Amino acid sequence: KTKVFVARDNQIEEAELKEASAVIRSGGLVAFPTETVYGLGGDATNPEASRKIYAAKGRPSDNPLIVHIADFSQLEDIVAEVPQEARDLAEAFWPGPLTMILRKNEVIPYETTGGLDTVAIRMPSHPVARRFLQDSGCMIAAPSANISGRPSPTTAQHVWEDLQGKIEVLLDGGPVGIGIESTIVDLSEDQPMILRPGFITQEMLSQVLGQVGMDPGIASENSKKPPKAPGMRYRHYAPKADLTLVEGHMDQVIAKINALTGEAQVKGQSVGVLATAENQDAYIADHVIVIGQREDEAEIARHLFDVLRQFDTLGVDVIYSESFAAAGVGQAIMNRLLKAAGHKRIFV
Ligand code: TXA
Ligand code: MG
Repeated sequence: KTKVFVARDNQIEEAELKEASAVIRSGGLVAFPTETVYGLGGDATNPEASRKIYAAKGRPSDNPLIVHIADFSQLEDIVAEVPQEARDLAEAFWPGPLTMILRKNEVIPYETTGGLDTVAIRMPSHPVARRFLQDSGCMIAAPSANISGRPSPTTAQHVWEDLQGKIEVLLDGGPVGIGIESTIVDLSEDQPMILRPGFITQEMLSQVLGQVGMDPGIASENSKKPPKAPGMRYRHYAPKADLTLVEGHMDQVIAKINALTGEAQVKGQSVGVLATAENQDAYIADHVIVIGQREDEAEIARHLFDVLRQFDTLGVDVIYSESFAAAGVGQAIMNRLLKAAGHKRIFV
């Protein structure tokens, strides 16, 4: 059975915190909030704990986990060497929504890194995550706390839906602040490269590192090279319904979505539309879900995965979605939406 410990003002009660820490230290699983999405945590140095994480998520074991740390010295303990770029990025963005890929040493087992000689490391800023990392004294391996293939969890309720009964403890810190997973930057090769876009944008990383590349494998489904991050190769975030993105001038996007909606409804299908607040009244679909104000990218990112889960609950057959800017945080939003859509998009 899964115990739920609720934080008040970002504080877990002392006795509950101690219990969660004991679970982690003895190889058990604890889901916890981070500023990006909820994580499904186990002791990163314990191969048995990592195996349990894969089993609970139903995740392929060649898809590596992110190691969460409380202190920069823990990074020094688990990597082969610390490049200057890692120090500079930590200085600028840690604690926060940035994951670095570095060459590992023997401390982190291959069970945690999916057999790779590199390790993904992140220092989260969420106060509950920080307190939990400090109190347990463990480095915590944590993928997003969803069943593999479902949208990442941004509330404790999402975690409960997916993992109840499969984990010992769920730390409930309320809805998260960012809502999309951390930016992943690979520092294990000559040129720093973004493997997964996130809230820390390419522009922000470039200000610290100079040139930062974007993994060409994530740009489109039929790129010649597969994405370097194994997790970016799988269909992911996918709602049950068939999702298509519509891109172009907003008036034409609305007209196109309404035309497609009409066609689907004639066939007896139930239609959902993912809309920005300013357009919500323009659609004729059965269910219009507002993701946020178009100019507020942070709000759109925060609501994205919850909106995808809502469509599952409503049981719509098809979903049409507006599109977002290709720069800044929009880059991460579009990356997640395109993955959810299996790269189905229509330009008008
Ligand atoms: O915001 C986040 O990063 C959340 C919270 C819980 O910290 N975690 C998260 O973990 O999103 P997960 O497992 O859902 O995604 C980790 C991604 C996967 O795409 C995985 O393939 C990639 O990171 N990854 C992990 N280690 C890697 C490595 N050594 N080389 C390349 N990619 C790696
Ligand atoms: Mg994930």
